[in-house]
Amino acid sequence: MPVGAGDPPSGTSAGTSVVSANNLQQTYQIKRGMFAAADQLRAVGGVSFTVDAGKTLAVVGESGCGKSTLARMIALIEKPTAGDLHLNGMNAIAVPDDARKRLRQSVQMVFQNPYGSLNPRKKIGSILEAPLAINTDLNAAQRSENGRAMMARVGLRPEHYERYPHMFSGGQRQRIAIARALMLDPKLLVADEPVSALDVSIQAQVLNLLLDLQEEMGLAYLFISHDLGVVRHIAHDVLVMYLGHAVEQGEKNKIFSQPRHPYTQALLGSTPGLVGAATGLKRIVLKGELPSPLNPPSGCVFSTRCPHVVERCRLERPLMRELDGRQVACHEAEKLNSA
Ligand SMILES: Nc1ncnc2c1ncn2[C@@H]1O[C@H](COP(=O)(O)OP(=O)(O)OP(=O)(O)O)[C@@H](O)[C@H]1O
Ligand SMILES: [Mg+2]
Repeated sequence: MPVGAGDPPSGTSAGTSVVSANNLQQTYQIKRGMFAAADQLRAVGGVSFTVDAGKTLAVVGESGCGKSTLARMIALIEKPTAGDLHLNGMNAIAVPDDARKRLRQSVQMVFQNPYGSLNPRKKIGSILEAPLAINTDLNAAQRSENGRAMMARVGLRPEHYERYPHMFSGGQRQRIAIARALMLDPKLLVADEPVSALDVSIQAQVLNLLLDLQEEMGLAYLFISHDLGVVRHIAHDVLVMYLGHAVEQGEKNKIFSQPRHPYTQALLGSTPGLVGAATGLKRIVLKGELPSPLNPPSGCVFSTRCPHVVERCRLERPLMRELDGRQVACHEAEKLNSA
């Protein structure tokens, strides 16, 4: 890796997972006026998962379900209001001072918009070298060498080093953002809709780059996407969220071939490329509006739109439980056809 002094984590290991999240929550206080009491918006209501080195967990769900909030917590941009988080064996909630820098370096984020995330006044070379200048003792020649090596690794040419972000296409800019994120040898990359702003033809190239980098560097990815076609291409595991809650999670192949939660079935059943005889998935159109997260349904969060709802669902929130080799939070899951 480009960074010279990558001191390996020692002694603090909590299992082998790069990320281990347990009942993570994020509740925002929404003030509607100076004297009004704050409303509580539970953006993420208790999500648990692990991601191992070299693996990708994709988080899917419709707009507003809490994907980006979860991403920001895992990338240490926002502190959870409750729950446990371990990154690379280190406790990320109560961080000992001597581990803080190492913890921050172990997770990096790539955003959706490659236009907004790169400083237009800086040349690519200085964008890539900045993390090294701040966090390492490398001299100018070493920083330049590492920056140029990383640029080649993400498929850009040497002459690009002296250019400015506006001189690049969207796909190239996302390569630059990925290169910057990798300069400090992170263990985990959190990517929030990293290809959603790109043309479809370019999307595949960037996804393949991410796959290559993962294989070469053993990176773990938390990959946020609303595009199930993309998720099918890149994920090992899938976490399906609805209104801040995980409703189904497990191995991608199990979830895509035999979804057990009615919401997962609806999500897959509304994706054109996945519906049809080849997959056995029926087309499903969800009725009703997404409820407001300020006033979520009692019981199961999906109960107001679920085609299989029964009385119990409106009263009692289903807990995550093991079924058919994955986790699902649905009282009725055994009774449903899987497609
Ligand atoms: N800083 C904040 N303060 C208050 N509410 C917030 C904040 N950030 C997000 N929310 C709310 O939390 C909920 C989850 O938002 P989030 O951005 O995580 O969803 P998302 O799944 O990423 O959606 P999208 O697919 O549109 O990006 C939404 O209701 C949103 O309005
Ligand atoms: Mg988002």
